[in-house]
Amino acid sequence: MLSYQHIYHAGNLADVQKHALLCWMLEYLCRKDKPLSYFESHAGRGLYDLGSEEAHKTGEAAKGVQVVLDDWFEVTHPYRHALEAIKEKHGVEAYGGSPVLATQFKRKGDSLMMCELHPQECEALRVAMRGSGARILKQDGLEVAQSFAPPTPRRGLMLIDPSYEVKSDYDTLANALPQLHRKWNVGVIALWYPILKSGIQASMVGQLKTVLPDALCHEVRFPPVREGHQMIGSGMFIVNPPFGIKAEMKRLNGLYDALNA
Ligand SMILES: C[S@@+](CC[C@H](N)C(=O)[O-])C[C@H]1O[C@@H](n2cnc3c(N)ncnc32)[C@H](O)[C@@H]1O
Repeated sequence: MLSYQHIYHAGNLADVQKHALLCWMLEYLCRKDKPLSYFESHAGRGLYDLGSEEAHKTGEAAKGVQVVLDDWFEVTHPYRHALEAIKEKHGVEAYGGSPVLATQFKRKGDSLMMCELHPQECEALRVAMRGSGARILKQDGLEVAQSFAPPTPRRGLMLIDPSYEVKSDYDTLANALPQLHRKWNVGVIALWYPILKSGIQASMVGQLKTVLPDALCHEVRFPPVREGHQMIGSGMFIVNPPFGIKAEMKRLNGLYDALNA
């Protein structure tokens, strides 16, 4: 049933948006000397080899992080800084998925929990996260999210990054996000979604904007990686967005807009 494997897409332009904003938020939250809870509902395998056959097959990283990282992000930018540290440890072709990126910001006292349902991906995640102190669960991420909220410590961030293999995911998420916010009203909750040619995501995004009017919705567009490819952009819907993130979103918009010019 679970056929999606993120290795084919790791480091594409959607990952760049998602991971740049994630690292920016984690760095910001870590400026305060108070412990954090970090949770991921759909973690993937954590660490990707951009030199692998799978990554070469789609060429998505070659049109994504591998061309934009140095131009778009200063060496001090939290995303670039975290990726450089990961390459230093795991080799130049290594790319950090969201769990391994998050680990770069973990301090003593912070707690990390991640769900991944695919057996092989979950096993690889356990290996990638060894020594990080993260709790890894091979369980349904949204179910666990509901029991996780509100966590201790209460400050923190939840990333929800489904593969949208099931069409009903859009409706499920339109309902789940407001519920999670009600349970954990101080938590930063970030939902990633694809922008598809069909516009299937629009109803979910519209509902979320209505129910959570103080959240920020950041969307970028990019040329499809292959002719006929459905994904033409990506979005992050962020509840309780950290102060100052609007400027980073605006900066990213300028960079992505230049790709489409
Ligand atoms: C888009 S990928 C995650 C990528 C990762 N967040 C990153 O940015 O590096 C989505 C992952 O969710 C997993 N998955 C699918 N359904 C799930 C579920 N119900 N609960 C937990 N994980 C699930 C898939 O196996 C896949 O590895």
